[in-house]
Amino acid sequence: MSLFLETDRLILRRFTTADEDNLVELNGDPEVMRYLTGGRPSSREEIRSRVLPKFLGYYERFEDLGFWAAEEKATGRFLGWFHFRPHEDEARDGEIELGYRLHRSAWGKGYATEGSRALIDKGFTEQGVERVVAETMTVNSASRRVLEKAGLTLVRTFHPEGWDPIEGSEHGEVEYALSRADWERQRLG
Ligand SMILES: CC(C)(COP(=O)(O)OP(=O)(O)OC[C@H]1O[C@@H](n2cnc3c(N)ncnc32)[C@H](O)[C@@H]1OP(=O)(O)O)[C@@H](O)C(=O)NCCC(=O)NCCS
Repeated sequence: MSLFLETDRLILRRFTTADEDNLVELNGDPEVMRYLTGGRPSSREEIRSRVLPKFLGYYERFEDLGFWAAEEKATGRFLGWFHFRPHEDEARDGEIELGYRLHRSAWGKGYATEGSRALIDKGFTEQGVERVVAETMTVNSASRRVLEKAGLTLVRTFHPEGWDPIEGSEHGEVEYALSRADWERQRLG
C-alpha cells in the first residue's frame, strides 16, 4: 500500500486498479451522487475507462497531489476519497483544489473534516501550497459545512455555463478559499 497521509482515524493512500469495485460501489449510491449527477450512478465502464485512469494519471504527473483513497484505520474499510490537486483551470495555476466523496455509511462522523484538515495542514507546512480552494453546489450544506470547519471561507456564488441542470443547480455553485496567511492566522488562534 502506498501510504500518503495518516490521521487519528484515517489512512489516505494511492488508488490502484484494484479499487475498481470500491469506486463502482461508491458511485453506485444515488445519495452520494445527488449533488454530482443528480443521483445518477456511474457505470463500471465509466469507472474503468474514465474515473480510475484519471485518478492514476495524477501519480504520473505529481508526487504528492491528486486523488487519495480513504480507509478507516480501525477496520481497513474503504470509505471514499479526497482530492488535493492543482486547479483544473490552468489560468488558476498555483491554487490547490480540495474535494471529497465518502460512503453514506461514513457520513456524520467527522471524517471529511478530519481528512480535509490534514491535507490542508500538510499542504501549507510541507508542500509549499499558497491557496486552497473548493467548489460545491450552493445547496450542498454538508459539503459547505466541512469547508467551513476546515477553515475555508466563502468567496463567491456563481452559475457555471453549459452544465446539465440537476435539482438545486438553479441556486448555483459556491467557491470557498483559504490562503496561507489566513491559515497561519487561524493556527495562532
Ligand atoms: C460532503 C461529505 C463528504 C461530508 O462528509 P462527512 O464525513 O459526513 O462530514 P463531517 O462529518 O466531517 O461534517 C459534516 C457536517 O455537515 C453537517 N451536515 C450534514 N448534513 C447537513 C445538512 N443537510 N444540512 C446542514 N448541515 C449538514 C454535519 O452536521 C456536520 O457539521 P457539524 O460537525 O457542525 O455537526 C459527505 O456528505 C459526502 O460524501 N457527500 C456526497 C458527495 C459530495 O457531495 N461531495 C462533495 C461534492 S463537492
